[in-house]
Amino acid sequence: ERQQQLNGKKILITAGPTYEKIDPVRFIGNYSSGKMGYALAEVCAERGAEVTLVSGPVNLKVTHPNIHRIDVESAEQMYEAAVSAYADADAGILCAAVADFTPETVAGQKIKREKDDLVLRLKPTHDIAAALGKQKQAHQKLVGFALETTDEVAHAQDKLNRKNFDFIVLNSLNDKGAGFRCDTNKITIIDRQATTPYPLKEKKEVACDIIDRLTALFS
Ligand code: C5P
Repeated sequence: ERQQQLNGKKILITAGPTYEKIDPVRFIGNYSSGKMGYALAEVCAERGAEVTLVSGPVNLKVTHPNIHRIDVESAEQMYEAAVSAYADADAGILCAAVADFTPETVAGQKIKREKDDLVLRLKPTHDIAAALGKQKQAHQKLVGFALETTDEVAHAQDKLNRKNFDFIVLNSLNDKGAGFRCDTNKITIIDRQATTPYPLKEKKEVACDIIDRLTALFS
C-alpha cells in the first residue's frame, strides 16, 4: 500500500561527498559513500516519485528509471544543480556531505614538492541547505542531515531552525555501525515537536523510515 504514495511528487536528493580541487591531480574530499542518499532515491522512486539525484563522486549505480542522476564534483557545482532542481520540486532531501571550505585558488599545474611547507588558503562554500531553506515555498518540504561529534541533539535542533528544514536526520559517529561507509545506520529524527530515536538498521530500512516521515508531511 506504500507503493504509489509518492505518485506525481518530484523529489531532489543530494548525495555523496564533494571534491574540492587543489591542483589538476589533488582534491579535498571526505569519507561519504553516498549509500544513504542512493537508498533514499531508490525508496522514493519505488513509491512513485520522480527523483533528481544530484550526486558527488561515488562508486554506486542507479537502476530505477525514475531516478535522474546529475553527476557533480565540487560544492559549487552541487549548489548550482540543487538550486535549479529544487525550483520545481515538492521536496528536497539534503544527504550530501558538502565541503564547507574550498581552496581560494586552484593551482594550474601540479604543486611541486620543493618547499618546506605548503599553506592552502580556503574560502567558505555556498551553504546549499541554507539557500534552499530560503528559496522554499509554502508547499515545499526540506529535509536535512546532521552528523555531529558533540552536543548532537542541540546542534541538530539549531540547524533545523537555521536552515528552515521540516525535519533533520541526526546520525551519530558515536554509534558503532552508523554513519560513513557502513551499510547500516542509526538515526534520530528531530522536528519542532519531538526527538525520535530509531534502532540500528540497514540503510534501505532507514531510508523507508525517513520517507515515511516525509510522506506524512504531504498528507
Ligand atoms: O551545517 P552542516 O554542514 O552540518 O549541515 C548539514 C546539512 O546541511 C546536511 O543536510 C548537508 O547536506 C547540508 N549542507 C549543504 N551545503 C553545505 C553544507 C551542508 O547542503 N555547504
